[in-house]
Formats: sequence, structure tokens, C-alpha cells
Amino acid sequence: MNEKPAKQRIVILNYGSQYTQLIARRVREQHVYSEILPFTVTAEALRRDLPKGIILSGGPDSVFDEGAPGVDPGIFRLGVPVLGICYGMQLMCHTLGGTVRHSDRREYGKTEISVTEGGALFAGLPERSVVWMSHGDAVAEIPQGFAAAAESENCPYAAISDEGRRLYALQFHPEVVHTEFGNKIIANFLFEICGCKADWNMDTWIADTVRGLRETIGDDEVVLGLSGGVDSSVVAVLLDKAIGPRLHCIFVDNGLLRHNEVETVEGMFRSKLGLDLHVARAAQRFYSALRGVEDPEGKRKAIGREFVSVFAEEARRFKDCKFLAQGTIYPDVIESSSSPDGPSQTIKSHHNVGGLPPDLKFTLVEPLRDLFKDEVRSVGRILGLDSEFLDRQPFPGPGLGVRILGEVTEDKVRLLRQADVRVQEEMRKLPDYKSIWQSFAVLLPCRSVGVMGDQRTYEYTCAIRSVNSIDAMTADWTRIPYDTLATISSRIINEVRGINRVVYDISSKPPATIEWE
Ligand code: XMP
Repeated sequence: MNEKPAKQRIVILNYGSQYTQLIARRVREQHVYSEILPFTVTAEALRRDLPKGIILSGGPDSVFDEGAPGVDPGIFRLGVPVLGICYGMQLMCHTLGGTVRHSDRREYGKTEISVTEGGALFAGLPERSVVWMSHGDAVAEIPQGFAAAAESENCPYAAISDEGRRLYALQFHPEVVHTEFGNKIIANFLFEICGCKADWNMDTWIADTVRGLRETIGDDEVVLGLSGGVDSSVVAVLLDKAIGPRLHCIFVDNGLLRHNEVETVEGMFRSKLGLDLHVARAAQRFYSALRGVEDPEGKRKAIGREFVSVFAEEARRFKDCKFLAQGTIYPDVIESSSSPDGPSQTIKSHHNVGGLPPDLKFTLVEPLRDLFKDEVRSVGRILGLDSEFLDRQPFPGPGLGVRILGEVTEDKVRLLRQADVRVQEEMRKLPDYKSIWQSFAVLLPCRSVGVMGDQRTYEYTCAIRSVNSIDAMTADWTRIPYDTLATISSRIINEVRGINRVVYDISSKPPATIEWE
């Protein structure tokens, strides 16, 4: 189910630029709802729920490439304003009768533009300003009806427009921060040209979504797999607001969770928020499934299979439930549905939950499908979730299973938990803790010699991993102050029996990954 507000929206056609999501964010930051669609969408499909405006994103292709992504020309005749950005501009010109010049040299970086004809898009901008360019091809001749709106030294058509047909195009990227007046240009497009109202905000989103959920669910009941992560936690409080006690949350204790995690989740959702929370205590089942499994993918698969089977057993107890709620968020939807890239190689199979058994026929409820992560956080905050939950670092589905290298045993889990909680406690004391993506301990499968008092020890090594990252696609190791590293190391070695050596992982991603398995 897609809880889409029946409201004005801006549609962004995705041509594969790394900035496409950023365009959507910039529009939403101005309180206008935006949606990313694949470039294959037809004018006919858009006409059914006509957007207030359309943006064609940038992209890595050249309009001259064989099989280059195109556009339904009918989109330019819908009567709604269209803004083409970079590849979007070239495609607009190419489609409407202009000429694009192929270039082997890229223009990349900050450039100064001068406003020439200007027009609605440049209203209120100074004559000269700095913009961010990143393109190879450029427009050589503009289609009939268009005029140059701005130029740069290398680019006579840095911006063009056909005010009559309300078609606009920019060779530069208004969505990146390096474009000095990028937000103003986007605001001009949204408010002056498309006539949008700035009425998209999280309070109205919550009210609309709660209403929509009530309509869809009616008197039925909903099961939710609560993981303790941000997304499923926010789904829980949202559904609680919509249907109260008809929501049943299942939390699977797979024995691979962080120290005290079950108690923390029970404290928040059952004691504080009063939700109907069922904890499936299944640790031993997972440990048995993991016995003798050393291969990282093998462990992920074993954990995934066991999860589905435990979850299905629990869910079967709710015979009257028609719906299954999931914490899918917008970046997941974009990634799986509209990426113009082909399937990429599986580095790690992150999707731990395969399909449920066929006898469990739930209808999916995914109320966060339209939201970006920080929007999900603001919904949670408005609905009273503690920041302890909202600002949590990501935690992988297979949990400590992929942080114990090699075979997982209950004893090793106990050891790693004790080490990890000390990492957490010390890292939280850092003033810039919130800027860290993830920090945790990893238990290595090797033992080494140490000395404690007069005794020789022969115990495990623990690695500390901490990274800074924007989206987990790339990551750099955190420059943790030496004093913090020293405290973590001495606390683990002195307080955790079984570990006598601590090392710090200073690899970035790529070529390493964030988790060790
Ligand atoms: P890697 O190790 O691939 O991790 O650099 C990127 C991000 O994904 C998390 N991660 C997982 N999440 N199931 C998950 O739900 C998994 O199997 C899994 N493996 C890695 C990791 O914690 C990091 O945030």
C-alpha cells in the first residue's frame, strides 16, 4: 500500500545522476512534495495525476549513445512546467529540435555565470553568481522558441528557457551546495513558475498518513516485525497512532543482538509506549543453525532462514491479522524500482528476510515508502520516540553473527557483547559522536599470547571498527582520539576475560567494507 498524499507534487524523472535524490530533497526542503519516477514514464501516465511540475534529472549518458535514455515528447505538451538539468537539458533540446555538441572533455567544478535574458527562473538573482558544472556534452543550438537565460565563459547556453511553453533548462546543477543561488532557482521554479504552495511538512504528512492507514486497515489487525532500528520503530509508533491495540509487534531475539537490546526494546515499546510487543526468544535456535558454519554468506543465509521461520511461527498466532507492516523507506524504493543501472554484483546479501511461507498471506503496509531517512526521524520525534532510538547507529540484520569472524558460538557472542558495550560507552562520550556512522567491536578468530600479572595468557583479539560515512556506500575510518582508544583498549583487556589484545581498523571503504564479513 502506498500512502501517497492526494496533493500537489513535483515529479523528477531519473536519468541516473548521483544527484537525483538530492533534487528530491531540495524540493521537499522547500515544503513541496516530490517524487522520483523512472524516465520511462509516459505523458499519458502523468496526465492521470497531473504534477505541478516536472524535473528531468542529470545522468551519466550522452544523448548520442546508443540506447541513451529518452523522454516521451508528450511530456513537453502536458502544459505543466518542465525543468531539465544537465543531461535533462540536453535531452530536452535534442528532443525539441535543438543541437547538442558532443565533447570529449568534461567541464567540472565551479563556474561563474552571467544572467542574460534571465526570466522567471532567475528572478531575484544577482547578475553574476557561482554555479556547479559537471558535463561533457553541451547545447550548441537551442530549439525554436527558446532564449538564452544565462551564459558562462565556456557555455553560451548555461541556462535557457521558453517562457511561453514554460520549459526551462540548466546546464549546471542547482541542487548541489556549490551553486550559490541553487535553492533560490529551485524556489523560483516551484513557486513562481509551477505555482506550488509550501504546505508539505511532517505534521500534515502524519495526519494524512494516519487517515489513510485507518481507511486501508479498517477494523482489521496488523503484525509488524520490529527490529529495534529506526524505520520499524517509527512504523510502530505511526501504526499505534492509527489503530492502537490492533497493532501487534513481533521482536525476534536471535541471540545476536547488542548488549541489553531486548530489555531496551521492551522498555521503550512495551513499558513506555504501551504497545503489544511479543518477544520471540529464539537465541538457541539461531546458535544451532550457525553451528559449524564459517562462511560469511552461509551465516547470513542461515540467520535469514531461521528468522523467517521464527517470525512466521509467531505471526501465525495472529489469525485475524490481514496486514503485515514493513519499514521500507524511499531510498529502498528508488534503489529497487527506478534505478536505470543494471543489477550490480552482490558483495554482501543484505536482504536477510526472504519471502514468508505461502500459507501466510498478508497484505503489505509500508507507510514510510515516501520518506527519506531524516524525514522518518522527524516523524518519530513528533510521535514521541526517544532519541536513543531515533539517532541509533545502523545495526546489521545478522547482528553480531557477522562481527564474530568464523563460527559463531554462544560464548563468543557473550565475549563480543562485553567488548562492544565498552566501545559504545566510550564512543558516546565523544563530542562528535553524532557525526559517526557506526562504531563497534569485532571478534577475530585468532588468539595471541599476553601477560597478566605473572600469568601467561592466550586469548582472543578484538578489533575496533568506527567509520564516518554519508550513506554507507563509501566510508572513512574515524580519527578517534588516542586517549579514547587507550581507554577502550584498557577497559576491554582489563574487564573482559577472554580478550587480551585490541587493535584499531584503519581501512576505508572501498576497498574494505564496513563490517568485516
Ligand atoms: P558493508 O559491510 O557492506 O556495510 O560496508 C554497509 C552497511 O550495511 C550494514 N550491513 C548489513 N545490514 N544486513 C543488514 O541489514 C546485512 O547482512 C548487512 N551487512 C552489512 C552495515 O552495518 C553498514 O551499515
